[in-house]
Amino acid sequence: MSKSLLVLHGPNLNMLGRREPGVYGSLTLEEINGRLRQWASERGVDLRIAQSNHEGALIDAIHDADSWADGIVINPGAFTHYSYALRDALAAISAPAVEVHLSNIHAREAFRHTSVTAPVCRGQICGLGWYGYILALEGLAQE
Ligand code: DQA
Repeated sequence: MSKSLLVLHGPNLNMLGRREPGVYGSLTLEEINGRLRQWASERGVDLRIAQSNHEGALIDAIHDADSWADGIVINPGAFTHYSYALRDALAAISAPAVEVHLSNIHAREAFRHTSVTAPVCRGQICGLGWYGYILALEGLAQE
């Protein structure tokens, strides 16, 4: 049976392409999403993608996904480092989540070394740029 997966982009990721390209790359979010949609169509995966700068909207999307998604790929942006509410939302659902970061958060400022969300995710992929989303999707598609 084909999988239904959600990719959730958190705050400031709508600025990709213009935002610190030396750290996050030069692709826009739409260009990244286009690559993810291409992957999904080749794999026969039902892929939905959303982005929000708002913690509550991300939480609502996570709750909603539990009724239809087989897995969630989430880049929580800076919420990664301090949002217990996002962590609780991920812990509350049965669908597995994989956390993705474009940059290697462990090689950056100390405040980025902590992820409060990763412990309630299946795993974390960071430092591989946009391709990290593909790897996370592949992982969830295998489950
Ligand atoms: C990020 C890393 C976070 O520390 C940062 O706040 C972001 C992007 C990444 O994809 O590398 O917004 O999640």
